[in-house]
Amino acid sequence: MATEYSSLFTFFGGTGDLAKRKLYPSLFKLYVRGNLGEHFAVLGTARDSWTDDKFREVVTQSIKDDQPDADMHAAEIFVSHFYYIAHDVTDKAHYAVMKDLVEKLDKQYSINGNRIFYLSMAPRFFGEVALNLKSEGLLSDDGSNRLVIEKPFGTDFSTAETLNKQLSGAFDETQIYRIDHYLGKEMVQNIQALRFGNTFVESLWNNRYIDNVQVTLSEKLGVEDRAGYYDTAGALRDMVQNHIMQIVSQLAMEQPVSFTDADVRVEKIKALRSLRVYSPAEAAKNFIRGQYGANDTEPAYRDEPNVPKDSHNDTFVAGKLLFDNYRWSGVPFYVRTGKRLADKFTRIDVVFKKPLIDIFAFPQNRDNSLAPNVLTIYVEPNSGFSLQLNAKTAGQGFETEPIHLDFQQDVAQKEETPEPYERLLHDTLKGDQTNFASWDEVSYAWKFVDVIQKLWDSETPDFPNYISGSMGPAASDELLQRDHRAWVYRLNR
Ligand code: NDP
Ligand code: BG6
Repeated sequence: MATEYSSLFTFFGGTGDLAKRKLYPSLFKLYVRGNLGEHFAVLGTARDSWTDDKFREVVTQSIKDDQPDADMHAAEIFVSHFYYIAHDVTDKAHYAVMKDLVEKLDKQYSINGNRIFYLSMAPRFFGEVALNLKSEGLLSDDGSNRLVIEKPFGTDFSTAETLNKQLSGAFDETQIYRIDHYLGKEMVQNIQALRFGNTFVESLWNNRYIDNVQVTLSEKLGVEDRAGYYDTAGALRDMVQNHIMQIVSQLAMEQPVSFTDADVRVEKIKALRSLRVYSPAEAAKNFIRGQYGANDTEPAYRDEPNVPKDSHNDTFVAGKLLFDNYRWSGVPFYVRTGKRLADKFTRIDVVFKKPLIDIFAFPQNRDNSLAPNVLTIYVEPNSGFSLQLNAKTAGQGFETEPIHLDFQQDVAQKEETPEPYERLLHDTLKGDQTNFASWDEVSYAWKFVDVIQKLWDSETPDFPNYISGSMGPAASDELLQRDHRAWVYRLNR
């Protein structure tokens, strides 16, 4: 039996792309699963003057688009809880009208003052909305008040800090839910189950046994129609500062005292504190960037709509991260992400050290050396694990070959797996912050990224430097070759 929560959701940017494509369909799934019951209402807001009926039609359509087999009778009841108000977030007078409606809906649906304010709009509004919500009396005195904010959280440490100060003027840290949708992914959450639920994994999870860790977030699509945002962000700020840092901190963290949001955060923060922040010279050595050029069928980044012809924006990043702590000293974490790469996938490869002595190679089999053990976590599109071991090749003689123990989620398990936004909305209702980024995590991530960004802003790169459909520039491979290593996932595999 699903737990029912009561809440009044207010979606700022309620007519926008994210709300329609992800938020309303995810909320409907929670409704169908029984997490919303009767005591909920949804208030959509934006400047357009829509009626409630128009809003309900749009939400119904967004459900149909996302879930063609949805129970439309349930959808009809669901959307009857939806209301719309035209509201300019920069106009304080509008908040009084909103307050009246919020209080009316609270009573009408017996919500007991539980409020979720979801800011699905341009980040430049986040601080102002938060402060206005408080000053204009939209926060309830009796129930819970939660603020959900989308990325990006600032454009560097200083802007993030300013934003955080504004948010803190209205909400305390336990009320702020900073979305990082990678934390809603099943296999990212599985990192902790794999590590802390298996003695043999955790006992080897350190610099005595692990040689290096590789994290790849590869995208096949290009910038699409998001040049306005993306050309000012680049892959480093768009993917590394948030998603990659969140994944890496879970791979590097110590075991939390308990599996609660507070204890997990403590350990992630501790891990990020020991991440070495590079000097500019170290950043130049350990991070490389790229921008895609054309191939036979796809345009170069600079020829994409609304991208300046001389853009120096990075669409690819690869780098080496080092943790200065007892567990990880000497173990590089290599990360890479980019647009218009060979395929769309996310994977983590943990490469173990080879045995110190390869008794099988000497003296008869010099050419048949042992492969490293590799534990791969497939995040997407497949969800599963694979462990590469060495085994004897069947037959006469004694040669070894790598074999794989594989686990992949089946269709039934995949169907049971909630989409990231459904999971994160559910966590917000529950008041569980485990899968949201805390301010400390965000701030350490920015401090790390800022050095690299500042260095790159001061130099003119020779772009484009990789072909669409490849795995990035040659410098990405060279980054590992220099350390006598190679990416586990390579195109010719
Ligand atoms: P859109 O541009 O599609 O939507 C913006 C919304 O804000 C619209 O509803 C717009 O309506 C409203 N708005 C703009 N100005 C005001 C104002 N002054 N007062 C009130 N409402 C206003 O953006 P997205 O939905 O794409 O993105 C929203 C947020 O989510 C951003 O932070 C983005 O970075 C983040 N995000 C989006 C993703 C996506 O897939 N779309 C993925 C990950 C994050 P109107 O103009 O009528 O007022
Ligand atoms: C978003 C980035 O945060 O993540 C996009 O802004 C990127 O540029 C997207 O495409 C990738 O998410 P996913 O879930 O498709 O891997």
